[in-house]
Amino acid sequence: MAIKKHSIRKSKTGTRTALGKWKTNKTVLVTGASGGIGYDLSSIFAENGYNIVLIARNKEKLLALANQAQQMFGVSARVIVKDLTRPKAAEEIYRDLEREGIIVDILVNNAGYGLLGNFAFTSKKDELEMIQLNISAVAHMTKLFLQPMIKRGRGRILNVASAAGFLPGPLMANYSATKAYVVSFSAGLAEEVRENGVTVSVLCPGPTFTGFQDRAGIRENSFVKLVMADSRVVARAGYEGLMAGKLVIIPGFFNKLGSLIARISPFSLTARSLRRFREPKMLPIVRKLP
Ligand SMILES: NC(=O)c1ccc[n+]([C@@H]2O[C@H](COP(=O)([O-])OP(=O)(O)OC[C@H]3O[C@@H](n4cnc5c(N)ncnc54)[C@H](OP(=O)(O)O)[C@@H]3O)[C@@H](O)[C@H]2O)c1
Repeated sequence: MAIKKHSIRKSKTGTRTALGKWKTNKTVLVTGASGGIGYDLSSIFAENGYNIVLIARNKEKLLALANQAQQMFGVSARVIVKDLTRPKAAEEIYRDLEREGIIVDILVNNAGYGLLGNFAFTSKKDELEMIQLNISAVAHMTKLFLQPMIKRGRGRILNVASAAGFLPGPLMANYSATKAYVVSFSAGLAEEVRENGVTVSVLCPGPTFTGFQDRAGIRENSFVKLVMADSRVVARAGYEGLMAGKLVIIPGFFNKLGSLIARISPFSLTARSLRRFREPKMLPIVRKLP
């Protein structure tokens, strides 16, 4: 879709693109909106009349979504191109929006990635940046956008964790731990703000068809492919759960069952079974421990 030249501006802190005049009423900010679950969540919000603030690194994909949402649903859209592994990214986003007078009614912390392999041998940079993106950016964005919500007496936060957040995750140990943080953080926070008009929900998808598997280096076997979810279905469950004020949203029967079993099984047993399940997938790509 063609993008009008005059609609593109550059900010000091990153590329910020304004598409049309901002219509005030309800606004959602979605991180990781350029693909997968974040893309589908953003379009579902737009369909439901929300203005959208879209964050990710891929400018072209964000602009295409922003234009489409604006033209199809008549909502306003902002694109903020930002690498959320940078420690100052959240602050820059917050200041940009504050300067423009854009009030974020709903915050969706969705951006994240995983990495398959023995932690001893995976890339140090990738593992540490994962903590920055999956944990620090979630905490930082929430820290900044929560207080204004409390002051207004209304607001919603949706954090995207994973069914992996309930499990110890050999061969994705760091990823599972980051998602365990998101589950625990969300549940604790939800209780803190329960009487302030703000709801906090955590979406815990199981394997879902997105760019996630490629980024993580996962090649799912045919059984997993059979039960893998469509990202639109996952996003729809997230949207509906958030709007209903649900705390934990686990889309799909098998994921609900798996999370339940994980919560009552001994850690060591779950970890050993998961390792047996995952190991064949990593053999061609990652060194085994001696
Ligand atoms: N797919 C699954 O099987 C699955 C299962 C459970 C949970 N999840 C969780 O769902 C969330 C969304 O993932 P997805 O499955 O939709 O994967 P995806 O298709 O790879 O999307 C990830 C999104 O995060 C953005 N992102 C990645 N690194 C970023 C960075 N440094 N700064 C800003 N944005 C960044 C990507 O955009 P750019 O590359 O343009 O920056 C993209 O928009 C993640 O938190 C993931 O852990 C996924």
